[in-house]
Amino acid sequence: MTDITRRQFGKVAAATAALAGVSLPEFSLGQQPPVSRQFPPDFVWGCATAAYQIEGGVHEGGRGASIWDVFSHTPGKTYNGDTGDLADDSYHLYKEDVRLLKNLGVGAYRMSIAWSRIFPNGTGQPSAAGLDYYKRMLDELQQNGITPYVTLFHWDLPAALAGGWQSRATALAFADYAGYVARQLSDHVRHFMTTNEFACFTDLSYQIGQFAPGLKLPAAEVNQVRHHGILAHGLGVQAIRANAPAAQVGLAENAKVCVPVIEDRANMEAARRATREENAPFLTTLLEGAYPDSYLEREAANAPHVEPGDMKAIGSPLDFVGLNVYTPTYVRADGSARGYAIEPYPASYPKMASPWLYIGPECIYWAVRNVCEIWNPRAVYITENGCSAADGLTAEGRIEDTDRVMYLRNHLTNLQRAAAEGFPVKGYFLWSLMDNFEWADGYSKRFGIHYVDYKTLKRTPKLSAEWYREVIARNAVV
Ligand code: NOJ
Repeated sequence: MTDITRRQFGKVAAATAALAGVSLPEFSLGQQPPVSRQFPPDFVWGCATAAYQIEGGVHEGGRGASIWDVFSHTPGKTYNGDTGDLADDSYHLYKEDVRLLKNLGVGAYRMSIAWSRIFPNGTGQPSAAGLDYYKRMLDELQQNGITPYVTLFHWDLPAALAGGWQSRATALAFADYAGYVARQLSDHVRHFMTTNEFACFTDLSYQIGQFAPGLKLPAAEVNQVRHHGILAHGLGVQAIRANAPAAQVGLAENAKVCVPVIEDRANMEAARRATREENAPFLTTLLEGAYPDSYLEREAANAPHVEPGDMKAIGSPLDFVGLNVYTPTYVRADGSARGYAIEPYPASYPKMASPWLYIGPECIYWAVRNVCEIWNPRAVYITENGCSAADGLTAEGRIEDTDRVMYLRNHLTNLQRAAAEGFPVKGYFLWSLMDNFEWADGYSKRFGIHYVDYKTLKRTPKLSAEWYREVIARNAVV
């Protein structure tokens, strides 16, 4: 720390005294955020989690196994052999988790339902005990004035479904499950998301082999898996609408966020083109109701087999598009036929604790803007944004995650810009309410704004939780 000399101190004191007589705008006294940092009055603030990452209780309430149980118990698949067997034990501690939400002052909670708690075998006989767990959870939220936003599929596919996403029958089974849950929970839930992050449960899982079920299939089979994923989404939308007509329906997608390297006309146009192309098999197709020609040409003989009626289902209109936003893809205009090039990250580009988590806060602005300018959705939510950090406890047991606050504050500054420019961004869900099972990274990466001691399961608010509470209270970037 720098020592302040007596002379410097004298100067500072004199300047402060001089300022005392000056009347400053109210916000600079820390009373009110400047209008330029304010979010719209009805903006929804929330936190997000997913079933397998927090629940534990894998053998309780008649739950069937999911492919993540199988995968995480296979030696060498997750960091340290970590599994979701216990996770944060939210299956038992859910009331405590609702208290955390309440203390933050959030109006909404994005959670997911474990398909294999509802249908232990993926199809067939539903389990009343599984549904009851979620009803208890939803009652608790309701009593605390917190609106649930429910994801129906966050990667924990019932292990009993033969062939997993390689089988078209899985998409049909998803629609049955989605319709059943929508009907059973329509009293409690007004916002449903079908699926979470297509590329993760298709490409990472069936092409790269990094996620469950850990396969490395050739391109044609991967494209078919992708097709079954978006078909499940589309059939799911139809099933939810048929069973819960008052519900708002969308999805949560980690669209690749194409950010113009320079904010000028040519690069902005390149980023828009790139957004369509880079998201071709997923968001582009379901928002346009057709595979882009460029994708079909590129994949040629490996293109997916499509049955009559599939594209109509896949293109079912949505009430909102949910975007999970973490990291930018920088794009510039070039003279090529497709009109853009992707910039590689220089070696010194800053990252958060996960190796893929490059920091580029303007990505949240461009995520909203590009999606709105290309497809004009009715509403957009940020269904996830957040970061891993190397959280440690101070001697007093605090977690001073100033790096996470930096990450979040800069993203919200850019999201506020999107809202102020009139894009229909309606809400923001911070990933995550608390540290949890980070898939193949096990418990080695912490994304929570509450610290979880995995020995005692004690939850402790980090500095970022305090900061987020203030953001919510003032409905502004602070
Ligand atoms: C996306 C996923 O939806 C979530 O499950 C994951 O934990 C976070 N991103 C962080 O990687």
